[in-house]
Amino acid sequence: MKLTPPSYLMLGLVRLGASSGYAIKQAADVSTRFFWPTSLAQVYPQLAQLEAAGLLSRSDDPHGSRRRSAYQLTDAGHEALSSWLRSPRKGTTQFRDEGILRLFSADALPLAEQLALVRALRERARRTSARMREQIVPLADTLASSGNRYPALVARLGADTYAYVERWLTRLEGELERGRAGRPGWMLDELAHAGAENLDAHHVARYDAKEDADARAEVALLERLGLTPESVVLEIGPGTGQFTLAVAPVCARVIAVDISEPMLARLHANTSRLGIHNVEAVRAGFLSYEHTGPPVDFVYSRYALHHLPDFWKALALARLRATLRTGGVMRLSDVVYDFSPADAAHRIEAWCATAGHSVEGEWSRAELEEHVRDEHSTFAWLLEPMIRSSGFQILDAEHSDDGIFAKYVLRAV
Ligand SMILES: C[S@@+](CC[C@H](N)C(=O)[O-])C[C@H]1O[C@@H](n2cnc3c(N)ncnc32)[C@H](O)[C@@H]1O
Repeated sequence: MKLTPPSYLMLGLVRLGASSGYAIKQAADVSTRFFWPTSLAQVYPQLAQLEAAGLLSRSDDPHGSRRRSAYQLTDAGHEALSSWLRSPRKGTTQFRDEGILRLFSADALPLAEQLALVRALRERARRTSARMREQIVPLADTLASSGNRYPALVARLGADTYAYVERWLTRLEGELERGRAGRPGWMLDELAHAGAENLDAHHVARYDAKEDADARAEVALLERLGLTPESVVLEIGPGTGQFTLAVAPVCARVIAVDISEPMLARLHANTSRLGIHNVEAVRAGFLSYEHTGPPVDFVYSRYALHHLPDFWKALALARLRATLRTGGVMRLSDVVYDFSPADAAHRIEAWCATAGHSVEGEWSRAELEEHVRDEHSTFAWLLEPMIRSSGFQILDAEHSDDGIFAKYVLRAV
């Protein structure tokens, strides 16, 4: 018998304990099919041939009234599998994906539809990566106790590959959006800096359980600072909208600007559920939101500005100042480090040590580490001059005792 890759696939799965044709199909569906599609029609003839060649042994394994065969690797089967694994041949890569085939011909579409296609493919990559990470990897991990760690490693390769494809398509989406808006090539891609978690529907769904934005107290503060039922509020980075939902009933209108589609979808679901009609949700960012109409009375932004590197923070602040009437108020809260560089390591370490263990109802250590490593929270002694240079007066600055969080009240001058 001439052995082919499907033969080795059978031998490999039988070796891992999938002993019947049915079990092999089930196992292939959650493992090898991601890189080597197999049809059920191939499985039984292959098993019969491998048995005839002496590479598998078969015994009867009836299930109730149903006849079933159980297969095991013979010594010759082990030998065949090992020599294939040791052979110099690496095989060819076969990659078939209709989505990518459509992308290949996407120049035939107008820009808006190219963008829609890229978004759909990005969303598909996100879902596949999440499924692999949440279902396939843990399943493969259960094999580790029997000394088989490579199925889980290959599953991780799959999850990481799709995560990379998602990031790549996110970048492309940003480029296409910039092209559509006629923005220059040197402009920051805000979507690529939005924080992968904010574009992840699972994270968005559990966000409110992890974070309490203290919205009532924040609204009360704005009321003390002059917010009235006639005020217009511009909020940047509202996320799920904890503050938005609290402020909307006591002001004329809220313009809620966020770069993340899943966050805006959640915000929209929340406003619909509560029957709130004076929130205008806009998909844009600090650097791309184009304000029309009279300047607003208040700007609000909590835990969002750190997504921009410092140069862009200054530009964002100047743009926000331009949308705010002179004398208007901006409330800005964020992770802002109030210590010197020499103290950074122990202050950051102390903050990370406060983290919880899971990502469900709390911020995990990995999430805090990622914030410090990959996002752009900066020192107070850098941010505060930027705030002033952008046309604001700092009326109040409140720094948390651990030097990690800052809340500002700013007046447009
Ligand atoms: C940590 S969440 C904060 C949500 C909410 N403000 C709160 O306090 O709970 C950060 C939000 O900023 C948004 N964001 C990230 N980069 C942004 C940008 N460049 N422009 C506007 N929003 C952005 C994210 O999509 C996300 O909704």
